[in-house]
Formats: sequence, structure tokens, C-alpha cells
Amino acid sequence: MTDLQEAMRIFQARSEAALESWLPAADTPPRRLHEAMRYSVLGGGKRVRPLLVYLTGTALGVAPEVLDAPAAAVELIHAYSLVHDDLPAMDNDDLRRGRPTCHKVYGDAMAILAGDALQTLAFHVLAHGGHPSLNAAQRLTMLETLADASGSLGMCGGQALDLDAVGRQLNLNELENMHLHKTGALIRASVRLGALCRANIGMEQLKHLDGYARAIGLAFQVQDDILDVEGATETIGKPQGSDSARNKPTYPNLLGLAGAKQTAGQFHQQAVQALAALGENGGLLRELADYIVQREK
Ligand code: IPE
Ligand code: IPE
Ligand code: MG
Ligand code: MG
Ligand code: MG
Repeated sequence: MTDLQEAMRIFQARSEAALESWLPAADTPPRRLHEAMRYSVLGGGKRVRPLLVYLTGTALGVAPEVLDAPAAAVELIHAYSLVHDDLPAMDNDDLRRGRPTCHKVYGDAMAILAGDALQTLAFHVLAHGGHPSLNAAQRLTMLETLADASGSLGMCGGQALDLDAVGRQLNLNELENMHLHKTGALIRASVRLGALCRANIGMEQLKHLDGYARAIGLAFQVQDDILDVEGATETIGKPQGSDSARNKPTYPNLLGLAGAKQTAGQFHQQAVQALAALGENGGLLRELADYIVQREK
């Protein structure tokens, strides 16, 4: 097992436990809503965003228990974004994480509500679940970071650009901008949340970490686009070919598969350079950048 695989195993287990502890019990009314929330969050997913919170924070000397709340919070936002992304009004997908999508099991209305409630739970976790060592100013900055990354100038805005682009040919700048928002924003927020747990984190360090996060966020969505073309449904756990079926603007669509892979490699390179600017080789963050462009699911 590589060091990254070992870290993934440990931090995935921590994320599961933190998420489980924050989600309402399935037998607490309203039960269908709580079941739908739990169904959408637990038992699947790579937990890349929590992993980023943990790897960034621990690289800066922050204890894992301080990182549990921000790691859970960003995954709750991500899970909500997936529930809504799969709805018939958006990507209309039936399979997620190898199981029927939330709306297929609980209906569209309940899936909308489950997404809504997961979103607000994320902010509750960040506001109240924080470790006692985090001061009020740190908590406020973290709340603002997650809110901005999730909202109309972040993920939600990116999803709007995505919908607006269906059936249209975007140029490379427009496509990058869409990916930067719909996926990059939460990935950037994950790194930033991990870094903000370190009291008095320097602006210079934050800047280089943000350069890393920006690059891996883009690489992550380019690889997601690639897997939509050449992945297998059983492996990726969602319907292969969904993007082309819905005429989505993607990197393979614009540049071809080889061009998309080259672009993922360029973003990977940018990430590595940003880590080098931090004054070290980046350790597990470097390995994570490799994983993001090599992953098969
Ligand atoms: C899928 O994200 C949606 C994108 C933003 C590309 P992930 O590939 O992280 O999905 P899970 O959480 O592992 O299911
Ligand atoms: C989703 O992008 C980005 C989100 C904000 C959820 P995609 O629509 O490509 O994600 P998948 O492929 O359905 O996971
Ligand atoms: Mg989508
Ligand atoms: Mg989708
Ligand atoms: Mg996709």
C-alpha cells in the first residue's frame, strides 16, 4: 500500500464516522427526508474533498480532530450538489455511486429537499461542530469560504453555466471557467478550509496552496469528463456516456480524448509547480495530484 492509499483509508474512515455522527438518525421524523439524506451521503463516494481538508491541514501540523468538521461540511455540500445534479431538470441520471440516484428512490420532491437540508447541515456542522481550538474569527472565515464556494459565484454558478452551455460549443476559456466553478470551487474550498484550521496561516502559503487547489480542481473535472467517455459504468458508478447523450460541453468533446488527457497533464503540472513554490515536494498532496489524473473512478 502506498502512503497515499494508507492516508486515504484512514481519512475515509474518519470522514464516514464524522458524517454518520452529524446526519440525523433514519428513525427521527421526518423519516423519509432523513433516509434520503443518509442514502445520498453514506456508503459510497471517494471522499476526495474531505481527504483534501485532512491532507492540507495535517501537512501544516493541524491535528485530525480539528479537521473533522470542515471535512464533513464540504462533503455534505458535495453530496447535495450531486443529488441536485442528477435530477431530471439537470443531468437526469439514474445511477450514482453504483446505486439508483436519490430521486429514483425517493422521488424528485424529496431529493430536492434532501439536497436543501444537506446544504444547511453543512453550515451547522461548520458553525457548531468545530473543534474548541478554532477561534471565532477562524470559524467565520471558514463559513464564508464554504458559502462563497457553494453559491452563485462558486459551484452553483458553475452548474448554471453548465446548463446554459448545453448544445452550445464553448471555447476553451469558457469551458475552463465552467469547470473552475462547478467543480473547482469546492475543491479549492477544501484546501482552504484545511489551511484555515492552522491559526495564523501566512498569506504566501495560502496563495501557493490555492494555486495547487485551482489546478487539481480543473484536473479533477477534466478527468471526470474523460471517464465519462472511456470509463466503465460498473467502475465509475454512474452512467458512462451521460455527457455526450446530453450534449454537454466537455474537454474530450472540444479537444478529443488525447487533447483532454494532455490538458489534464498540464493542470497536473501546474499543481506540482505550485507545491514546489511552497518550498517542498508536497508529500501526500503531490501524490494526490497524481491520483486525480490517474484515477479510474
Ligand atoms: C463527481 O465528483 C462530480 C464532480 C464534481 C466531478 P466525485 O468524482 O468526487 O464523486 P464521488 O463523491 O466520488 O461520488
Ligand atoms: C457535476 O459535474 C459538478 C457538480 C457540481 C455536481 P458532472 O455533472 O460532470 O458530475 P457527474 O459526472 O454527474 O458526477
Ligand atoms: Mg452536471
Ligand atoms: Mg452530472
Ligand atoms: Mg461528469
